[in-house]
Amino acid sequence: MLRRLGNLAVCLVMSAIAAGTAFAEGDAANGKILGDTCKGCHFIQKHKNSYPVFYVPKLGGQNGEYISVALKSYAAGERSHDTMLSHAATLTEQDIADLSAYFASLGELKTASAAGKAPEQAATCVACHGEQGISVMEQYPNLAGQHENYLVHALKQYRAGERTNAVMAGFAGQLSDDDIKVLAKFYASQKGLFTPDP
Ligand code: HEC
Ligand code: HEC
Repeated sequence: MLRRLGNLAVCLVMSAIAAGTAFAEGDAANGKILGDTCKGCHFIQKHKNSYPVFYVPKLGGQNGEYISVALKSYAAGERSHDTMLSHAATLTEQDIADLSAYFASLGELKTASAAGKAPEQAATCVACHGEQGISVMEQYPNLAGQHENYLVHALKQYRAGERTNAVMAGFAGQLSDDDIKVLAKFYASQKGLFTPDP
């Protein structure tokens, strides 16, 4: 089973590369200005989302293209969160490119040695998210160092169909609550993403 999913993962990576999604060029300086409205949550260490309770995701070190994808997903209703929708819905394509360029300029994650051994549950994840949660493509989120409770929340949302990305729905659908716990703990313990200073 794991092997079959592994092969599927490789195919999906290959087709994503072939599709070669185009992204608008962003202006990081303008993104910094636009990013002022994000500071109240994303620039505060362990800022809590109140219901359900989890820490607001770290954006420092996140892939710029993934940030674009995520913002567009809120606006398109593929992810739901009231505050993020109200922010994303007012952004133009160029604003999104600028914000993504700005966040990407805050720091790029490099591969280092993994902290601890990847759990067997991660066998299928590495094809896209890398051995330590540093993803192989810009469109995929880095997971290394992300808040553990946010990773749990995200995986449960995919599993429940509350986030509609077809690739992740397939992989998260195979996971038990225990698998999710183990995976979130592993990725959160890697060195990587950070909360930027305001
Ligand atoms: C009131 C707090 C708040 C503000 C202000 C806010 N966010 Fe968020 N943001 C959140 C929360 C909470 C989530 C996770 C929501 C979910 O469950 O999908 C999130 C998720 C995101 C994600 C997805 C991260 C990931 O790993 O998938 C991005 C990208 C993002 N925000 C960018 C922004 C940008 C850019 C701004 C400013 C224009 C902004 N946010 C303003 C609270 C906030
Ligand atoms: C074929 C590539 C692929 C594989 C394999 C894969 N993912 Fe993903 N993952 C993605 C993509 C693409 C996204 C962004 C989807 C979206 O837009 O919501 C994502 C998103 C995520 C997120 C949300 C991160 C955030 O910041 O919100 C988590 C957590 C995650 N994956 C964990 C996993 C785990 C755990 C596995 C293995 C069980 C796995 N993924 C396997 C491609 C993959």
